[in-house]
Amino acid sequence: MSEEKNYDLVIIGGGPAGYTGATRAAQLGLKVAIVEKNKTLGGTCLNVGCIPSKALLDSSEHFHMAQHEFDQHGVDVSGVKLNLKKMMERKDKVVSDLTGGVSYIMKKNKVDHYVGLGKLVDENTVEVKTDKGSETLKTKNIMLSTGSVPNELPFLKFDEKIVVSSTGALSLEKVPKKLLVIGAGVIGLELGSVWNRLGSEVTVLEFSKKICGPMDAKSTKKLQQVLTKQGLNFIFEAKASSADVKKDGVSVTYEDMKNKEEKTIEADVVLVATGRKAFSEGLGLEELGIEKDQRGMVKIDEHFRTKHKNIYAVGDLVRGPMLAHKAEEEGVAVAEIIATGRGHVNYETVPGVVYTWPELASVGATEEELKERGVKYKAGQFPFTANGRAKAMNSTDGFVKVLADSTTDRVLGVHILGPRASDIISEAVVCMEFGGSSEDLARSFHAHPTLPEAIREAALDVDKRARQF
Ligand code: NAI
Repeated sequence: MSEEKNYDLVIIGGGPAGYTGATRAAQLGLKVAIVEKNKTLGGTCLNVGCIPSKALLDSSEHFHMAQHEFDQHGVDVSGVKLNLKKMMERKDKVVSDLTGGVSYIMKKNKVDHYVGLGKLVDENTVEVKTDKGSETLKTKNIMLSTGSVPNELPFLKFDEKIVVSSTGALSLEKVPKKLLVIGAGVIGLELGSVWNRLGSEVTVLEFSKKICGPMDAKSTKKLQQVLTKQGLNFIFEAKASSADVKKDGVSVTYEDMKNKEEKTIEADVVLVATGRKAFSEGLGLEELGIEKDQRGMVKIDEHFRTKHKNIYAVGDLVRGPMLAHKAEEEGVAVAEIIATGRGHVNYETVPGVVYTWPELASVGATEEELKERGVKYKAGQFPFTANGRAKAMNSTDGFVKVLADSTTDRVLGVHILGPRASDIISEAVVCMEFGGSSEDLARSFHAHPTLPEAIREAALDVDKRARQF
């Protein structure tokens, strides 16, 4: 029988937006419940996204280095062998440690965790369908954070063995001889890199003319060159259009848009990485008249409210980049809006990272965007070949680019292609959050020798006074 419970906030979806929002709301004194259909919290990010992919990227990078780079450091190793099962077990352990950590945080903050499918019944009621039956939760506020799922191509239905989404590509039982990746976006490049390093022959089909969609053109061009050197084969202006899936492989036909002809490519496994779509099935949106936009995302106002003022939506379910850190900040903002009346996300400073090697990290506007908007800017650039730490690491591919307003010198965008770009971009984010200038970056101490010195040098180069050449 259904039992009724009362809350200030019920969150449907336990990913980064959900568990971070729940924690903040609990800290602010609200009585909170989190409803998650999977057994573990953490959503796509922790279970089948950011975290397991980074675990495999790190492991495969070690394997690659042992095979191809150790000897340059004077480390002779022979008989380097891949133990894929062990690599996968380590990845699974990283995931279970972290999802366990999230459960602990919920308990510590006295957030009630329901395992089951949450559905809106009315503005103040959520029903949770569990293994054992159903529970009814009464609540003053609801936050929807049900995330997103991979796009499927109509002619390539996921079986997660031969036709895989990012989820299946994180758990292949053996290294495919030939891996075809459809889509040269973030997922295609990260998981393509993993399997390339582990020994697959990887071909990437991309609809447009470049990798990584709208990211900085010069950085993405250089990244493509480096990845090509690492063994990835790119076919641009190629639209996957049909496929024949067999028991032990797949042949995919694509439209070669340059030459206006159809071509076919064979592979053992195909990874479809053509984007993700908001997941709101079975949530009861239609019954409550909650609208979606053309892309199927839940429509919200500037305070994350749906047409019902006490029902909020955040994360991959709503407009903006599908990124865990964006979702987290939105979850926190909603908790703060409910508890204090104020909450805000600065979308101008959301960093984006591609965890290839070198990594590509970016915040703010690209040169292409600034030109299109008619903004006058100055650009400074500095290569990692001239950075002492990168040289010591033997990882000098890439550069930093700092873009600053011509008149005010305010930093408008920073783009980094290089070692650990994901870690060092944070300095630029903080600078932009404070409305800082390239002069601020240039005059701040940077320990020597470190990778972030390349950011300082690029900032100095905005006024053509870089020092470390
Ligand atoms: P994406 O939107 O980044 O890239 C998809 C690519 O597929 C595009 O370049 C598109 O032109 C191409 N494409 C689409 N249909 C095609 C077709 N029929 N034939 C050939 N090419 C085709 O999407 P992706 O890589 O699947 O990632 C999904 C989301 O997950 C993104 O929003 C991304 O931000 C997020 N994500 C972020 C990560 C990170 O922050 N490091 C890691 C993984 C995912």
